[in-house]
Amino acid sequence: MLHRILCTIFLTLVVSTPARGDSEASESAAALVLRHCSPCHGGDGAAPLRLDSFDRLLRNRQLARLLIEDGTMPPSIALDSGNGLLTTRRLRTDDRATLLSALATRASAMEAFKSLTTIAPNSLVPSVLLEPERPWTIGAAGGAQIRTFFAATDAQRVRGVRFAQPGTQAPIRLLTLAADPRRTLRQLEARLVSNTAPPADGGGIEAMGNIGLVPSGALGGLSLVQPRFELPAGFCFEVPAGDLAIETTSEPIGRAVEVLPTLAWIPARKEDARAVRAIAMPAVALLVKADTCASMTLTHTIAADVDVVAILVKGGAFLRSVEFEVQSTDEHRRATPLLTVPDFRMAFAEPWVFTRAVRVGAGSILRARLGFDNTADNPQQPSRPTLEVRSGLPPLGEDTMVVVLVADAVSR
Ligand code: HEC
Repeated sequence: MLHRILCTIFLTLVVSTPARGDSEASESAAALVLRHCSPCHGGDGAAPLRLDSFDRLLRNRQLARLLIEDGTMPPSIALDSGNGLLTTRRLRTDDRATLLSALATRASAMEAFKSLTTIAPNSLVPSVLLEPERPWTIGAAGGAQIRTFFAATDAQRVRGVRFAQPGTQAPIRLLTLAADPRRTLRQLEARLVSNTAPPADGGGIEAMGNIGLVPSGALGGLSLVQPRFELPAGFCFEVPAGDLAIETTSEPIGRAVEVLPTLAWIPARKEDARAVRAIAMPAVALLVKADTCASMTLTHTIAADVDVVAILVKGGAFLRSVEFEVQSTDEHRRATPLLTVPDFRMAFAEPWVFTRAVRVGAGSILRARLGFDNTADNPQQPSRPTLEVRSGLPPLGEDTMVVVLVADAVSR
């Protein structure tokens, strides 16, 4: 079928783009594991399997080799733009070869990884813990489910947020945060609960998209693979007093589980003076017919000069690719790509944070091109046979939103 072939060609073209920084010196296999695997496979990482020591790596050598070879690991395959994406863990072609040959035999692995010692768990002490009042129970069956929770906040400056106990939040695939200073959603929940009998399964309400005054995702996104979200040095969030809205996308793991997201703020330092705000680009009025692929382009025109600090993508089961570019106002209308994610997967979603903020001039256009796959070939497809998909809540709807975090430009 033509559309399926086209989907495949598109993915192949994007994946074959050269890896980043090909001029940099190559690293040892042990250094590569520390940089590209340990953030997730280390002591407080989100991956189920630890790969941060000599014996653990040796034990899982063959599986690791297979998953590196077929490109499954490391999962983040955002295209580096030269702006120094803070979270990119893409392997260069030669680094991949170094790892594969180190993992090829037991003897080569013993030699390559003998220096690898266990990394100490994250020692960051949370200053503020945020915990909603009531948990929500999800049953054993059914696909992805969305609930929004609330936790009270004081006005404060923070540079990020993390799961307080990453290991215990396993059914949460993706979590996005927004400030809700007017407590709009909590009032809505109170009304829903008083009109009907209180739900037997406890707290949270179903909600999506823009929450209160600040778009969902605007204060960061956490996922299975990215249990903390932090702005680069120099930047902070100004969180108003009121509620924090915590939108969770969860998947039961074969048994009924309680969901209660507990989070910790990462406090801002004195130097983190530039406050970021969010530009929300939601995919509204999306329609993808059964067994087809579709694409959608979202645009936003920048009113005054800004520095782009991070791009967050919130997507459900059908979003498969994201390309993000900035089109300048000069006579050539030059388009600069900032991000290419050829294989977006909800469970692996992570925020893309730039080490060096990207200056975007007034009048420039931010453009996100999104690819959706509603065929049976999509591994996250919740319906067999496939059904028509519209904007809405997972698992049957698609609630994609691109959030761009920007700070007002200061002269450099
Ligand atoms: C961004 C986070 C992240 C990074 C970086 C990462 N992984 Fe993973 N890895 C995961 C997660 C999450 C899973 C579990 C996937 C699941 O269960 O769906 C996983 C699963 C695996 C597994 C399979 C475990 C099993 O029981 O099936 C292996 C092996 C593995 N990773 C190896 C690696 C290697 C080698 C690297 C570095 C080259 C790496 N990973 C980098 C997050 C990561």
